[in-house]
Amino acid sequence: MLFDILTIFPEFFHSPLEVSILRRGLEKGAFEVRLWDIRDFATDKHKTTDDRPFGGGEGMVMKIEPIYRCLEHIQPLGPSPFRILLSPRGEILDQELCQALSKKDRIVLICGRYEGVDERVAQHLVDLELSIGDYVLSGGEVAALVVMDAVVRLLPGVLGCSQSPVKESFSTGLLEHPQYTRPREFMGWGVPEVLLSGDHRKIALWRRKKALEITMRRRPDLLEKAPLTDEDLEILKGLRDGTNNP
Ligand code: ADE
Repeated sequence: MLFDILTIFPEFFHSPLEVSILRRGLEKGAFEVRLWDIRDFATDKHKTTDDRPFGGGEGMVMKIEPIYRCLEHIQPLGPSPFRILLSPRGEILDQELCQALSKKDRIVLICGRYEGVDERVAQHLVDLELSIGDYVLSGGEVAALVVMDAVVRLLPGVLGCSQSPVKESFSTGLLEHPQYTRPREFMGWGVPEVLLSGDHRKIALWRRKKALEITMRRRPDLLEKAPLTDEDLEILKGLRDGTNNP
């Protein structure tokens, strides 16, 4: 998979790409990142990438021409790209969308600054406006990193254990059950006995109950979309009326 990132701060991406999953994915050749400085595509001698808003008002707006010129330049440099503008007004990223994005051959991420990007970029130059949540960042760079991290870890061979993206939070439609590791006791805080029992059937049932319980309490909205079995519905009923206490 190929990512092209359009930004006025390419250096923002240097160290995140040098650590952890992103680094591993790059080293394994699972994906490639190219950073494009939008400033290089400005035509005036001051390399202007923003200007005052028509109609007046505070702040500056990112201009369309340098973004257009950059997109034109990179278009032939790989397979047909899926173009995304990061913006707090976009569709909200979730695991399902990450899965869909992980199937693309090439993704272009355009990082806007928070004050705004000329609307014609969203209207004419991209396939999707994407937000990473209901808050305003100072620019799309952090959001682009979030998208890349969440997508790249779904690519085959990037994570150490190929199973892990399947069971984790959201992939099952539920929040994940709690996890513990050694020591068995710390500061007097123990771990649930069942996890030490070696009884895999019991452990699986406990984990499912905990996942259902935690999702019911924290994110009941997820239960509406999650694929639930009859047994899950029984468990939830028990949790609601207090007869089932995992
Ligand atoms: N740019 C500023 N805020 C953003 C957000 N929440 N998501 C994506 N891009 C942004």
